[in-house]
Amino acid sequence: MADTNALLALAGRHLLKTYKQPPLVMTRGEGCRLYDTEGRSYLDLYAGIAVCVLGHAHPALVRAIAEQAARLGHIANLYYNDKQIELAAQLCARTGMDRVFFTNSGTEANEGALKLARRWFFTQGDAERTDVVATWSSFHGRTLGSVAMTGTPKYWEGFGPRLPGVSQVKYGDLDAMRRRVNDRSAAVIIEPVQGEGGVFPAPPGYLQGLRALCDERGALLIVDEIQTGVGRSGKYLAVQHEGVVPDVLTVAKGLAGGVPIGAFLVRERHAEALAPGTHGSTFGGNPLACAAALAVLETLDREGLIEGAATKGAYFLSRLEGFAAKYPALVKGARGRGLLCGLVLADHVEAREVLGAMRDRGVLIAQAGDRVLRFAPPLIITEAELDEGLAALDAVLAALPQETK
Ligand SMILES: Cc1ncc(COP(=O)(O)O)c(C=O)c1O
Repeated sequence: MADTNALLALAGRHLLKTYKQPPLVMTRGEGCRLYDTEGRSYLDLYAGIAVCVLGHAHPALVRAIAEQAARLGHIANLYYNDKQIELAAQLCARTGMDRVFFTNSGTEANEGALKLARRWFFTQGDAERTDVVATWSSFHGRTLGSVAMTGTPKYWEGFGPRLPGVSQVKYGDLDAMRRRVNDRSAAVIIEPVQGEGGVFPAPPGYLQGLRALCDERGALLIVDEIQTGVGRSGKYLAVQHEGVVPDVLTVAKGLAGGVPIGAFLVRERHAEALAPGTHGSTFGGNPLACAAALAVLETLDREGLIEGAATKGAYFLSRLEGFAAKYPALVKGARGRGLLCGLVLADHVEAREVLGAMRDRGVLIAQAGDRVLRFAPPLIITEAELDEGLAALDAVLAALPQETK
């Protein structure tokens, strides 16, 4: 067995301290369970931040990766590869988009979307049309373009000068968008459910309103489904609940169930914005990642996991809402869509403490915003496993002082 203390000492010396990690070292996963160096097991209710849609070591994914690695792992985009072409066709069929560019991460997908929007107007002879309107409390990634669009200032502080032309308005406020979007706006970027910002689903009609506004003013509608996509919301895309088709769509996270990949997808009318030589990636869409993504799609269908996300998510959310009634001094409410749910804690309750207490009981969850517990379990999770997580949460909340401070 690996020596935990020795590993933690090496981590302390050699990893940048960008993450606030508890002293646990994970070595293995199976289904919805993770195992650490001490052999302890944990119920995984965050799935590597909404990534491991098939849980850990799913046989179909393991097989696809192993077979592809033995056949062809990487060639770069100097040549076509069969898996990338197949995956592009399948993604277009599922999303209503026409063309795909593959990246390695979510933030790169958003950078590509931003470049495409600006370049589109450049090619139309409107090179001044470069503004991007995003929303407060959004999260779009950590590279300089994405971080500028991200609506939480702590993520940009100290990394200036910030990308010019990018601004934020209140999420869910269509009038605020109407006031901001004008003939200098190249794009509006929106999450159908703000994930990192605190699990805020878009209010009814908001996404349709943005679609109409972008059509009216000629701006591109970029929908960031990096966290909500790939079935998590109960449909392949969360915008599909509203019947909205974006101009540019970004996906990543769950796309290949844990193998790094992302993509931005566009409709035909804007595709010519990125002509040969205008954008590229060495790793993006390599055969290994694309084979994994194809296995994810096939397994989502075969196991009915997208429909399952809707029913299991509705069950889970109703149980979380029950905690607001049971612990009114500690819990303000619950919200979410499908298997992306948030429990909103009262102002005096430290989310970090609840996370730690859950971990001590062998259940892993994530945080969103300052006071929200975020649940984004693998889509393969069973109702019994959800109940196990809920029982742990019940016990943790019951052990906290029940009065408001
Ligand atoms: C909505 C959204 N967009 C973009 C990103 C950035 O993705 P990545 O961390 O893969 O760069 C995230 C990551 O949490 C996200 O939730």
